[in-house]
Amino acid sequence: MGECVTNHMNEYGNGVSIDTGMVLCVGKRKSKRGRAMKIIDMRSDTITLPTEKMRQAMYEAKLGDDVYGEDPTVNELEQLAASMLEKEAALFTSSGTMSNLLAVLTHTHPGDEIILGSEAHIFWYEVGGAAALGGVIMRTVANDEYGQIGFDAVKEAIRIKNIHSPRTSLLCLENTHNRCGGTVLTPDYTTTIARLAHEHDLRVHLDGARIFNAAVALDVPASELVKPVDSVCVCLSKGLSAPVGSLLCGTGEFVEKARKWRKMVGGGMRQAGVIAAAGIVALQEMVGRLAEDHANAKRLVYGLSHIPGITVWPDRTQTNIVMFESPADVPIGEFIQQLDMRGIKVGYRGGLRFRAVTNRMLTEADIDEALERISQLVRGLG
Ligand SMILES: Cc1ncc(COP(=O)(O)O)c(C=O)c1O
Repeated sequence: MGECVTNHMNEYGNGVSIDTGMVLCVGKRKSKRGRAMKIIDMRSDTITLPTEKMRQAMYEAKLGDDVYGEDPTVNELEQLAASMLEKEAALFTSSGTMSNLLAVLTHTHPGDEIILGSEAHIFWYEVGGAAALGGVIMRTVANDEYGQIGFDAVKEAIRIKNIHSPRTSLLCLENTHNRCGGTVLTPDYTTTIARLAHEHDLRVHLDGARIFNAAVALDVPASELVKPVDSVCVCLSKGLSAPVGSLLCGTGEFVEKARKWRKMVGGGMRQAGVIAAAGIVALQEMVGRLAEDHANAKRLVYGLSHIPGITVWPDRTQTNIVMFESPADVPIGEFIQQLDMRGIKVGYRGGLRFRAVTNRMLTEADIDEALERISQLVRGLG
């Protein structure tokens, strides 16, 4: 039996509490018949634990003081990321949130306006850091359900030079798109929208926390997906399973400026090679395996589509994220409580909507088991 925690609202709770007041057991809990039941945790791919090889690499990592630029393992990771993404340089940061924040700080000045999708992670889940610490206005334009923002909407949102207006200096994109259910942006789309931004003297930053999922889904190198943008953030601690870390990539000049911002916000880490070592394994060995998560997401969405009353969008299940809605005739509080009791952990997104993320800790059999439990749940409540 694992450690017990109360089931507080998940990290993406949007103000509608899903706290059922129950106590959940992480790892295993007891079924009604008293048998141990595996918790099937589909809240996020961030729950993945490091592999044995990562732990070994962490143990053996050659270390130095990275604030002096002397940690060989961090340097190796930064060079590896830059070369995989075909950017001049990369900066190791503690999180995707920090990489995105540093990108905004580096590309803009206080008082500027930045354009981003209405469903952007930077806008929803990064504590408003761009506004609070960067002093920029976040101007959102509507995302479609595939994570794209329209050319005309972006064009309209770009300020003309005028004494009354802030300067529009940055466009932020997201690939894959979290709130749009892991949908991918194609190289064509990114090229065209980045060209528009550049023609108007904007820089383009890509929140590519899951860019390797997009690359695997589209079967193109990640470098092709990020070629049109000036900077990109990639995460190591999601489907790639490293315990910590993200890389912010761009030109050498951009990365040097971002390095200084990183120091200012307290992100200068000393013997960071301990965690960078796992990141090297993540980039070298874990990208290909994302296809397994994608296959499991397809299996999940297919299964859910056969449970009466559940709504899914199979064409939008392009990577490892599955959005679904519970049956309209089932009280939402009861549905949430039943998921909980049946050992199914998913993110609640408000209304009838849930997010399930397939990840390395789950097998095909776990997906089938989750489907069976949800099917029983719906039959019992319907
Ligand atoms: C699209 C996207 N960007 C950024 C982040 C932030 O990453 P972190 O949790 O490492 O701060 C996430 C986290 O899930 C994400 O999904």
